[in-house]
Parts: sequence; C-alpha cells; structure tokens
Amino acid sequence: MTVTISRVAAREVLDCRGLPTIQVDVWVGDRLAGRADVPAGRSTGKYEAKEVRDGGRRFGGFGVRKAVANVRDVIGPALVGQPVSSQRSIDELLIELDGTPDKSRLGANAIVGVSLAAARANAAVSGMPLYSQLDGNGHVLPVPQLNLINGGRHASNDLDFQEFIIMPVGASSFMHAMEIGTEVNLALADLLLQRYGKLAINTGDEGGYAPPIKDPREALALLHQAVDHAGYGKQVVYGLDCAATHFYDETTGTYRLAMGSFETPAMLDLYAELVRDFNIVSIEDPLYEDDFEGFAALTKRLGIQIVGDDLFVTNSARLRRGIETGAANALLWKVNQVGTLTEAFDAAALARQHGYSIVVSERSGETEDPMIADLVVALNAGQIKTGAPVRGERTAKYNRLLLIEEELGERATYAGQSYRRPKG
Ligand code: PGA
Ligand code: ZN
Repeated sequence: MTVTISRVAAREVLDCRGLPTIQVDVWVGDRLAGRADVPAGRSTGKYEAKEVRDGGRRFGGFGVRKAVANVRDVIGPALVGQPVSSQRSIDELLIELDGTPDKSRLGANAIVGVSLAAARANAAVSGMPLYSQLDGNGHVLPVPQLNLINGGRHASNDLDFQEFIIMPVGASSFMHAMEIGTEVNLALADLLLQRYGKLAINTGDEGGYAPPIKDPREALALLHQAVDHAGYGKQVVYGLDCAATHFYDETTGTYRLAMGSFETPAMLDLYAELVRDFNIVSIEDPLYEDDFEGFAALTKRLGIQIVGDDLFVTNSARLRRGIETGAANALLWKVNQVGTLTEAFDAAALARQHGYSIVVSERSGETEDPMIADLVVALNAGQIKTGAPVRGERTAKYNRLLLIEEELGERATYAGQSYRRPKG
C-alpha cells in the first residue's frame, strides 16, 4: 500500500542565536510522522540557495512568517496525496513549485524544511532509524572535526580564520573521539585562562573559545599545547576553516588579515608554512568563493585535504567545475545550501565518483535537531563538522552519533585514519 502525505504544517521556532527559523511537520494519515528544523548560516556563500526572511522590525527583520506561509499555503496543499516514500519526486515537486534557480520564491528555508521532514516521515513509516532507512549499509561513524577556537564572523575577536579544528583520527571509536575532544577542550580552557585571563574563555557561535589573539600561528600553537597537556599528541591531527570569502577584499583583490594585506601567492605561502609547522591535514575555504584557479594551485601544492564550502555550496554544477579544474578534493556537505535532500545526495554521489571526500556539516545557526548525525552515517561520509563538544545544539548531534554507535554495535566502524575514504 502506498503511504501518502496527508498534511504539512510549519511554525516559527528559535535557533541557537535566538533568531527565528522554520520547523516543519509532515503527517501521514492521522499522525505526525516527521518533523525537522532548518539551520541557518552566518558566513554564507553567495551561491547558496536563498532563504526568505520577513524584514521589517519584528525579530530584527529575521522573522520567517512568509516562509511559514509558503509551506502552509503553497507547498503543503501540493504535497498532500504524494507518496512519502519517493524523496526524489517530493524534492522535484518542491523545485518545480518554486521555479527559481536559487529557491528564492518560496525560500530555501521553507523548501529544505519540507524535504527533511518528509525523509523523517518516510523513515517513521518504515519503522527504521533514519540513517538505515536512507542507506541500509550506513555504518561508518565519522571523525569529528572539532572546532575548538572560533574566529571570523563567528566570534568577537581578531582572528581572521573562522575555525581552528582538532581531528581525533587515532581514537578507537566515536565515543573515544569525544573523550579526547572534551579532554583537550578542558586543557585548552586552562591554558587560555592562565595566559590571557578569564575573558579569553568566552565562546563563539559554534562553542569554541574566542581568545584575544590575531595570529593563526598562535591559535594553532595553543591547540597543540592543549593536545599535549591532555596527552593525545599521537591521536590528533589539525584542520582549519578559513572562510576566506569573508576577509577577501574584491576591490583590491587582496586578503585582509589582522597581520596585514595578503595577495593570493602570499596566502598560499602562509598555508604551506602552517601545514609544515602544525600538522594540518585539512583546510576548508582557504581562498574566496570564485577562485577555482587558486584552489587548484593550492590543492596541487599542499597534497592535503582541501575542502570547498562557499566554493561548492553543495551544488553539483559548481562541484563539477571543481572536478574539471582540480579545485579542492573534498566537498563540505550542507543540505540547506542547495535546498533539498535529493540535490545534496546527488552532489555527494558526484563527489564520491570523482574521489572527492565528503565532510557533512552543521551551520553556525543550529537548533537541537540532530538530523545531520543520521545523514553522515547514511552517507558513510567519514567526517562531520558540528562545532565544539559543548552547547546543546552541537552536543545534540554528538549525542545522536553516540546512540547510533551503540545501536550499530559490532557493525559500527569508526572512520579513524581512513576519514577521507572510509571503507563503505
Ligand atoms: P556558517 O559557517 O554556517 O555560518 O556558514 C559554517 C562554515 O563556514 O562551515
Ligand atoms: Zn566553512
């Protein structure tokens, strides 16, 4: 028997920054079967699908009543009677209803909420956990890219790079990775307190500390010391999300760092130095979002994981351009950048086909909805980026992964050293 959608509801709820976002409910028959919350970025890429926000005074202009109304009045009625089991047809219908290339008419926030809630509804109907309903072979627990020091648009300090990351690749399980992450985070707090005083342990949007420093070398040295103090020098490697679009000055064509203005070749040299000195294995968005050429040069030169976030925006067309030009070798995967689960899965499949790694990611504006935990396991992606191991909207994802690891039992495989190409 085909199970069809009977009702779609939506409402405004608050995200971790206290800003409104959409929560969508998908009903089948007389029951609520799937609910999903929509996250929001702050350092967004210009090629992302577009949210609809209300503007005006209410909630500082961030209200989402219009997007909620689009779910209620346009999307909902069109989806009633559709089979809940066909994610692709549901998503195609959403794309068609919107009719714009960037989902700006109905809003990417309205559309992605419905797409995700429909996936949850389908899993509920089938009586399976979401990760195994999406892919019965999902069994890889990801290496967490733990963002312990925040800068850029996510913090009120002068660090230009947005995220300073540790990756416990030498852990024996996901639980062990979280143990390491938390112990290092505690050691880091002690160090920051001693060296810079109590204001240094204020945190940024993703729960990482926001110390009053400018030089990325100092942040990386602090991470190394914290890892050493905690006793995990052998288990941990390092990553960066520079989010370079957001300190690139288009008029002069230079990167404006607190340390001065850098042209592209000087940026490349800086990255080569940081990789050499700090055991960095992954750099996300080292250059601004249109510089495919620069990305290609850096990917070739460094030989480490180079991740495209603002560069690719989880969009297959942009990823294809990266593949053709040799720009980056990993895809940052955020469903709301492209707007539907199907399009995001297609981008992941394309990445995999061409040997690009996949890093499933949260947004800086999250809710307590842990769905990306299920998605990263369904994809056997091998890496997740969901902030520091603190604050409910981040720990919701980590806790869901701990539960999945327990549920999978002997089938669970921690990606560990194979994080770029986990055995599927
Ligand atoms: P955003 O940042 O969610 O604010 O865009 C996350 C990231 O750049 O990876
Ligand atoms: Zn990023």
